[in-house]
Amino acid sequence: MRIIEAKDYADMSKKASEIISAKVLLTPNCVLGLATGSTPIGTYEHLVKKYQSGDLDFSNVRSINLDEYKGLSGDHDQSYRYFMDTHFFNHVNIDKANTFVPNGLAKDSDTACAEYNALIESFHGADLQLLGIGGNGHIGFNEPSDEFKKGVHCVKLAESTIKANARFFESEEDVPKYAYTMGIGNIMSAKTILLLASGTAKAQAVYDSFFGAITPKVQGSILQLHPDVIVIADQDALSIAKEKGVLV
Ligand code: GLP
Repeated sequence: MRIIEAKDYADMSKKASEIISAKVLLTPNCVLGLATGSTPIGTYEHLVKKYQSGDLDFSNVRSINLDEYKGLSGDHDQSYRYFMDTHFFNHVNIDKANTFVPNGLAKDSDTACAEYNALIESFHGADLQLLGIGGNGHIGFNEPSDEFKKGVHCVKLAESTIKANARFFESEEDVPKYAYTMGIGNIMSAKTILLLASGTAKAQAVYDSFFGAITPKVQGSILQLHPDVIVIADQDALSIAKEKGVLV
């Protein structure tokens, strides 16, 4: 695991965009595993700028997103499909038909999960999986649990996640209680994982995930077992690791 220290959010975003750009340049038909949330917004902004200045071509890129709220349609402004369209896909030359996000309105959850799982397997996992991290160490929507779930599944969101994401909705009651998410096996099948973390609210999750025990109570800790993980964290997100002296 490589941990790259960024000065702040802006620096983290720039560095992350450089790594994703390099992947797209080297492998124009790569499969990008993509993430939502506040953390990657700056990264997408940089990628859009690079596309607009003619430095990047997404025409052969395919993408698979980590997760989606159950019950939200793709045009709901808090759905992750909407997030991806408005922050990234609408502004670059990726073919929308090659962008995949779980369908929040699927009639049958089990079938929807099995189909999304088969899609990820058909891609042999992402070439590069972008990840954020929850304050409780979740990756995608894999919440603290007694087990690591392997495949795509429907999950009941943790109270802390509902609270954390309430800022995007009119009220806490409006936050969906369930979501579809790639499982840990799907995430671990990515060839390279790029995890971003910014701010003191992530400092404990960063410390626990990358310097603590590997446990499903902290789902991000499984990444310690992946052969190619790059963490870009800003100084605030690394503050506890530094206090504890595990990071020089
Ligand atoms: C969300 C998403 C995750 C994201 C995380 C952190 O609930 N399901 O994919 O990484 O929580 O979000 P943020 O970047 O807004 O802090």
